[in-house]
Amino acid sequence: MREALKFGPFVVLLLIVTLVSCKDEPAPVVTIPDYIATPYDIVVPMGFPRPSSPDDNLTTVEGVELGRHLFFDKRLSADNSMACASCHLPRFAFTDQLAVSTGIDGVAGTKSAMSLMDIGFTFSGLFWDGRVMTLEEQALMPVEDPIEMHNTWVDVLEMVAEDDTYPELFRKAFNIKDPTQITKEDAAKAMAQYERAIVSSGEAKYDKVLQGKDIFTDQELVGFDLFFDDADPLIPDGECGHCHNAPTFTSDEFFNNGLQLALTLDDFEDIGHGAVSGNNVDYGKFRATTLRNIEFTAPYMHDGRFATLEEVMDHYASGGHFSPTRDPLMSQLATAVISEEHKQALIAFLKTLSDPDLEENPLFLDPF
Ligand code: HEC
Ligand code: HEC
Repeated sequence: MREALKFGPFVVLLLIVTLVSCKDEPAPVVTIPDYIATPYDIVVPMGFPRPSSPDDNLTTVEGVELGRHLFFDKRLSADNSMACASCHLPRFAFTDQLAVSTGIDGVAGTKSAMSLMDIGFTFSGLFWDGRVMTLEEQALMPVEDPIEMHNTWVDVLEMVAEDDTYPELFRKAFNIKDPTQITKEDAAKAMAQYERAIVSSGEAKYDKVLQGKDIFTDQELVGFDLFFDDADPLIPDGECGHCHNAPTFTSDEFFNNGLQLALTLDDFEDIGHGAVSGNNVDYGKFRATTLRNIEFTAPYMHDGRFATLEEVMDHYASGGHFSPTRDPLMSQLATAVISEEHKQALIAFLKTLSDPDLEENPLFLDPF
């Protein structure tokens, strides 16, 4: 019955065509009315940049809803076992709590899954090394990646066209009337729209303090001072805010924060952004990711090398390993005196960046 409803217009069309052709007269043209999707208002917390979508993929209510279905759909993987959301779990700020992600065949990748919170504000390149520029381009990749979903788009589009729900979702999102005309680019556009809607709620303690609705504890205040090198001359500069700046807590740039020991440019195990720009000043640089919700995204760094925030603090307090492209701020950290209390204060401050919305936002719920 549901099938019949979904394909109602096509059945009617078919009936008319059959009836009419019996009478040997030309078939009348039956047009399915156009569907105009509703613009989606991306609401951002105070102080955030203005959200924007590409002109050829404006964010709509129907597009986001379709994208949410695709994002949580395990049928996008070859053995129906893995969705985007299997590695990007909303409650862990869209990460998977693994050092490196493993795809459907149990083969481990080399990188840690990344948070997708506020991902729509990233313009300098996606992934740890920045090798892909747009969310639309990125969303095409996991389905056919042999160590992720290991499927083919041909199979995914066949599933989509034959499904009970997708033809209607695609009709509403993109005014596609014939499900066999749905392309992988349409699917990727919908997922990109969904991702642009994943925005901080402004309900984190940090935001509430800025809005005058809450106050920091003494320890959090010391952490704030360390992070942003605020007024107190007795508290050392943790340098964090230069690379992870407010309000998104990422500068959206690539830095070498001293993870790899490399005596010369040839000694990097992973040249990171250098492989993308082709420029050796970028060797060993990776994207400074957002620190919002960092409490939930352990283990840390592109290879998940640090299990806890304590280990991350030990790393920064040491200044990290030497290499020719290590950021000068890291050498400054090596000489600053960051005590155990300072590290704990920084961690306390970082935890004020946790968004309670991760458990509550209906956008983050599995539609299946
Ligand atoms: C097997 C686990 C896995 C699956 C499945 C997966 N991802 Fe990812 N995702 C990752 C990893 C790991 C990275 C970082 C990869 C890198 O930098 O090389 C990543 C990075 C991303 C990024 C870049 C984020 C940023 O901050 O630059 C986006 C966007 C993304 N994934 C979206 C998706 C979408 C959409 C899907 C489903 C079509 C998906 N992912 C499926 C593991 C996964
Ligand atoms: C020179 C720029 C720079 C400075 C200064 C800096 N960071 Fe980072 N941070 C980065 C980069 C780049 C990464 C990602 C590195 C990687 O994984 O290769 C990162 C990653 C992190 C991560 C892990 C993120 C994740 O998703 O796994 C945490 C936590 C973090 N930084 C906290 C801090 C704190 C706290 C400070 C201050 C003590 C700080 N950072 C100072 C550039 C910087």
